[in-house]
Amino acid sequence: MSNDKNNIPISPRSLHRLRLLGRFLLWFPLVLAVGAIGYAIQRFGNDEPVRYRDPVQHFMYGSTGGERESGFPYWIWQVLPKVCPQHLPGKGYQSLGMLFEAGRDLPVGMSMRRSLGLDRVFLNCAACHTSTVRTAPDAVPVLITGMPAHRFDIRAFESFFFNCAADPKFSAEFIVPEIAAAKPDGLSLLDRYLVYPVAISIMRERLLMLRGRFDFVFGQPDWGPGRVDTFNSAKVLFNFPMHRLPPKELLGASDFPSIWNQGRRMRRDDGERMELHWDGNNTHTEERNKSAAFGTGTTPPTLDLKAVARVEEWLLTAAPPAWPWAVDEALAARGKALYGEYCAACHGASGQDFAGQRVGHVTPIAEIATDRARLDSYTYDLAVNQATLYAGYPHRFKYFRKTFGYANMPLDGIWLRAPYLHNGSVPTLRDLLEPAAQRPPVFYRGDDVLDQTRVGFVASVAERDGQALFRYDTSLPGNGNQGHDGPRYGTALAPEDKDAIVEYLKTF
Ligand code: HEC
Ligand code: HEC
Repeated sequence: MSNDKNNIPISPRSLHRLRLLGRFLLWFPLVLAVGAIGYAIQRFGNDEPVRYRDPVQHFMYGSTGGERESGFPYWIWQVLPKVCPQHLPGKGYQSLGMLFEAGRDLPVGMSMRRSLGLDRVFLNCAACHTSTVRTAPDAVPVLITGMPAHRFDIRAFESFFFNCAADPKFSAEFIVPEIAAAKPDGLSLLDRYLVYPVAISIMRERLLMLRGRFDFVFGQPDWGPGRVDTFNSAKVLFNFPMHRLPPKELLGASDFPSIWNQGRRMRRDDGERMELHWDGNNTHTEERNKSAAFGTGTTPPTLDLKAVARVEEWLLTAAPPAWPWAVDEALAARGKALYGEYCAACHGASGQDFAGQRVGHVTPIAEIATDRARLDSYTYDLAVNQATLYAGYPHRFKYFRKTFGYANMPLDGIWLRAPYLHNGSVPTLRDLLEPAAQRPPVFYRGDDVLDQTRVGFVASVAERDGQALFRYDTSLPGNGNQGHDGPRYGTALAPEDKDAIVEYLKTF
């Protein structure tokens, strides 16, 4: 009696319900899958930079596409100084010479883009081409776009990420709780257990891989702030066998240059293109810009061409600000005459007029006789490889070539471009007018207090605002301060004449 439950007849209503349930069970996973895909597309598929209407803001904070390939997830970037404080020279990213404007959480030169489901950040042009100056130690630093980022220590920046990635603390176990604590709206379960752990492990693998490839850098004397080995980094990206290259090609630390007035840097008066970069290896400003974009973490497919075009357009006419103090007009007028006689043929008539027989051409190394490491670091092999970049695009690189000297560049805003020469080996303009043997053999880089008399930055103190400055030793390989020396370069003039030239250069 008790076991004939199975025979209870099913009422038509129950049958209907069962069918509904069956249908539901059949469709539910599908609905769920579609929902999940929709969420995933919406969450992980969009690719959207933070945009800035103003061209200067775009230059300082806008994306050139680098985050797609190289971007650090924003929240990992934010908490890493807490995870690896021992790998930073001081407190926070400021200690790397990165500049923070009041009320901003990202430094100048860092852009953000939503990519692969996360806000990701990376360097843009301003990281290396914007900095600050002060008229006195207690004055407020003034931000100047387009000038060399003479305080940013990019090698210390690389070291921080490489060393942190090699640290046992670079794991979800340590990083995720820091993010959960720092992020105002906390972490969702998906982020906590899937997205960030995966992002952390991908970032770690990539950094360790790059650390291995950039190994050669750490065999070089320290670059210090405001310098980078431009073209050896490019060789790494082309997978050159770095350990097999001749040592003399592996040393190319160069100063970040200023990048104003690119319109005037396109052509000389006779219609010829200017040969620029420190060694004059490229005649097209458009290519110099796109080549520079590799420094912002992009590759041909990830470069945001429109975003770079906006920077390019702004750079055509961007100009340096005026010298912040009064200029002695009579002295400057005397300096102008001397400058016209000695310097103008190579450097242009003034800070705004780049006319001059040899401007934008290369002076052979035997003649200029400055440190040749940067010149030798750029090789014919590299030029050939660069010609393959953007293959298949209309803007395929065509104008890189090997040269045999350094370029006679325009000197616009020269008071903001210290230390001088391609390797930043001479602290002030007045020092550059001394014979090489009388230039300071050792000095400090990274101070933004202006030297009003000798023109450049204060270079004699080891520390500013509690932060150590970089001790630059001209006796180290690649750091030589020789050359640009002799009667032709004004170093044999009387001291009063040199003062007059320096006074005139303040008007540039
Ligand atoms: C990692 C630092 C770094 C970043 C980022 C960077 N640059 Fe540069 N840039 C340099 C250095 C160093 C040179 C000098 C290269 C040399 O000759 O050795 C240079 C040279 C240039 C020049 C040539 C100067 C001249 O007068 O011809 C231009 C133009 C330029 N950069 C524009 C840009 C633009 C535009 C961006 C962003 C898309 C950018 N740079 C990003 C470091 C950087
Ligand atoms: C024959 C051409 C030539 C003459 C003449 C010449 N220069 Fe130069 N100048 C150069 C070259 C080439 C460089 C780059 C050398 C290097 O960086 O290794 C340079 C570099 C400089 C720099 C450093 C630029 C920077 O951004 O760091 C300054 C400043 C300068 N020259 C000023 C002068 C002054 C002032 C005179 C005249 C008294 C003068 N030059 C005469 C060719 C010349």
